Amino acid sequence: MATATKKAPAKKAVAKAATKPAAKNGVHENGTNGAHKNGNGAASSSSLGKGIPAKKGKGSFSEVAGKYCVRDIKMADEGRMLIQWAESRMPVLMHIREKYKKAQPFKGLRLAGSLHVTKETAVLVETFAALGADVSWSGCNPLSTHDAVAAALAKGGISIFAWYGNHEDFYWCIERTIDLKPHLTLDDGCDLINTVHEKYPEFAKRDVIGGTEETTTGVHRLRARAAAGKLYYPVYAVNDAITKWDFDNVYGTGQSTIDGILRATSVMLAGKTFVVAGNGHCGSGVAKRAVGLGANVVVTEVVATSALKAVLEGQRVMTMDEAAKVGDIFCTATGVKDIIRKKHFESMKEGAIVCNTGHYDAEINLKELASITKSKRTIRPNCEEYTLKNGKKIFVLAEGRLVNLAAAEGHPSEVMDMSFSNQLMCHIKLAEAHKAGKKLPKEVIDIPKEQDEFIAETKLSTMGMKMDKLTKEQLAYINDYNAGT
Ligand code: ADE
Repeated sequence: MATATKKAPAKKAVAKAATKPAAKNGVHENGTNGAHKNGNGAASSSSLGKGIPAKKGKGSFSEVAGKYCVRDIKMADEGRMLIQWAESRMPVLMHIREKYKKAQPFKGLRLAGSLHVTKETAVLVETFAALGADVSWSGCNPLSTHDAVAAALAKGGISIFAWYGNHEDFYWCIERTIDLKPHLTLDDGCDLINTVHEKYPEFAKRDVIGGTEETTTGVHRLRARAAAGKLYYPVYAVNDAITKWDFDNVYGTGQSTIDGILRATSVMLAGKTFVVAGNGHCGSGVAKRAVGLGANVVVTEVVATSALKAVLEGQRVMTMDEAAKVGDIFCTATGVKDIIRKKHFESMKEGAIVCNTGHYDAEINLKELASITKSKRTIRPNCEEYTLKNGKKIFVLAEGRLVNLAAAEGHPSEVMDMSFSNQLMCHIKLAEAHKAGKKLPKEVIDIPKEQDEFIAETKLSTMGMKMDKLTKEQLAYINDYNAGT
């Protein structure tokens, strides 16, 4: 993916003189100067040494140059309660936080992250800070930042650049986190890794210890980068952990996608024909939950084994050309572009609802929809009514961006607990290797089995569940190649 880094006018000071009195936490609202000094005393110069370019976003912001830019710092108390709510439902992550508090594995290290700013992410961010890291954060999607949570993080002293509706300054925010000169990067969708590699290759090769990637789409990008010989530091594929993709991708996406669709539409799912494009981990999770609510699920696929799985789950498989004619609700979960395009919109039923739960907004071709549209209005939050030139109405949710985060709150805390425990443990591994003077290969690294086992066992024990253990005899039996009938 091309790194569409903004070319903003150079050297225009971002922050005007403070017009408001100092906020409670000692920083000014709407811009005071003062470059961010990180915990190690390294001045956080912008763009690795150049001046901070102006941002383009409209509306008002709470901003301290070099330190944070959020929508409204006054939302911090609301955000703090949401973070506390998430903490109480993320026992594995909180357990690891406690376990490593004394050791301070990240002391002296700087970490930049680009991942949806939700209450669950805030628990992860504050865990890194509690374990000694100097952290700087941005969102990884224009519509997924929870502004109250961003405000709470800023007020709590985290360097954060994120707000809901950030279409214009998405890469500006990522660049501000790179200003920290991170040793570690944490991504969801590879936009931070791509920016560091494409804009600052020497810095990536020389100074970055390693990183992690959260999502399926991001890991695809990462493997493509590695295959091209263009990956300059080791990156753990967090997405591919069993305790991530068999849970977050399936149950997390399943529940949060339905949640987003319902919040944006409040329609009844029972009796509807619900078309899911893509029966991978994410799509199959959505299909399962739609079935549970009484929908007739149709799956479209390009991989025969995935299509077959849907059939044996009792779902129908069709091409999108056929599905477009019968669907009431469409949800894309493929990671591929142009899944729903002009010819599909043209054959859809009156009132069809279309949304996406994949990482990028490329799956529904809204340009082609616009080309056959007469008029458009927002009929309810996150729901746009397109009236086509032929008079038919089609409804698009969350501008074709991931509906679960844009229209709802993303996956529940309980499942993010495991995903983010993987994130944390991988970064602890990177930090420990660095401190031991050990060089990891500049590759995409898989998650060790012991990490999955530890996270799953800890999760089970926090749920009060106990497992059996194999007896010595059972162990000998399964390893005996002569045992038979
Ligand atoms: N991705 C999906 N759900 C999420 C959540 N609640 N927080 C962060 N990233 C997510």
